[in-house]
Amino acid sequence: METFTIEGGRPLSGTLRIQGAKNAALPILAAAVLAEGQFHIYDAPHLKDIEVMIEILSALGAKAVHADGCVSLDTTSISVTHVPDDLMGQMRSSIFLMGPLLARFGEVTISRPGGCAIGERRIDLHLSGLSALGAKIEEVEGYITFRATQLRGTNIFLSFPSVGATENIMMAAVYAKGTTRICNAAREPEIVDLQNFLNAMGARIRGAGTDTIEIDGVSSLRAVSYRVIPDRIVTGTHMLAAGIAQGHIELTNTIPEHLTALIEVVRSCGVEIKTHHDIMEIKSTARPNAIDRIITSPFPGFPTDLQAQMMVFLAQARGTSVIKETVFEGRFKHVNELARMGASIYVDLGTAFIRGVDRLSGAAVEATDLRAGAALVLAGLGAEGTTVVEEVCHIDRGYERLDWQLQQLGANIVRKT
Ligand code: EPZ
Repeated sequence: METFTIEGGRPLSGTLRIQGAKNAALPILAAAVLAEGQFHIYDAPHLKDIEVMIEILSALGAKAVHADGCVSLDTTSISVTHVPDDLMGQMRSSIFLMGPLLARFGEVTISRPGGCAIGERRIDLHLSGLSALGAKIEEVEGYITFRATQLRGTNIFLSFPSVGATENIMMAAVYAKGTTRICNAAREPEIVDLQNFLNAMGARIRGAGTDTIEIDGVSSLRAVSYRVIPDRIVTGTHMLAAGIAQGHIELTNTIPEHLTALIEVVRSCGVEIKTHHDIMEIKSTARPNAIDRIITSPFPGFPTDLQAQMMVFLAQARGTSVIKETVFEGRFKHVNELARMGASIYVDLGTAFIRGVDRLSGAAVEATDLRAGAALVLAGLGAEGTTVVEEVCHIDRGYERLDWQLQQLGANIVRKT
């Protein structure tokens, strides 16, 4: 088991270029299945989840190489429509293969996907969306098979603006006869990136970033080269790292308008944030002030993927703050670990009441999922003494060598095996 050992109390300083967005690269790699040819996907971060996606594509028959942030992918020889069970179970994003395989081959078989232990992770909206397009669904012994000779455009209303379901339906609908309209669609920037990628391939999609997306079916798509947007959650994580450890850092390759909700909150707590084109400058010289209330919600609201990191920031703030988690019901697993570091947090019915303390104390803690793990690293940066974070494999799923990234910003963090 690999761990991170962090010596707390050092203000951060330095510059870091932000990695490409995991949650944009994953659906984009899956969408490449929709066309035959040679793709080059740039700024695809070197992460466990990306490598699993590449393994899945190779198992389906594609040829893929991931070097220096670029995935070179030849999808010509894809012929398998059954996603291997062992790979399906390794991450939630394996479900993104459903729409593209169904659209290109008229058939797809998957088993129930895996994912973080942050909640039930239902897939009913994915299944009902594909059924609405005319696919026939069959579920036998845990395997879900969709078949369709020709998908037909239709209106689909999502009862919740699910990011994954929106993306799966977009990909399934590109070859459907007629127009598909997704109402109450998710509005995340990663969905806009997927629309831009698919339109570069020759699709006709509009409305991504709003709650209504329209897809006009086309007869063919072509392979392209494409650069993935920067990762807004990694950007926000480092912004909060500077707020927690204090100091003065610069982040490049960012899109500030993807983080409006976070920037507003962190500024109101007393941290200085300046933005200029794709550069963000963060300066903090004192303990932050508490904030009355944060409620996580779909974009453009406060992102659930930054809830744990924000909780660490508020755990050492002046005063008491409240965080309500409305997206995933099991996303407070970091609270018990933070209590081991001296945090004073009370959780009741999806709401955390955080009474700020002067400083946390270093301890041995365990990463339970991707973002909770990142939050514990941030807690170690600001804590008194030494913190050891165990099970860093969870963190490697979403951060491209978080230890190296933080070392660029002056942190004392070492990966140990
Ligand atoms: C995506 O997950 C992201 N993952 C998550 O990031 C992110 O937290 C989430 O969107 C919300 O922003 C990727 O993009 C790979 P959802 P996804 O479908 O698509 C319920 C990270 O840390 N729901 O919007 O799984 C579901 O149970 C990860 O990078 C249904 O009920 O999120 C949850 O409560 C974690 N039925 C809520 O919607 C469905 O069919 C949000 O899920 C689908 C979802």
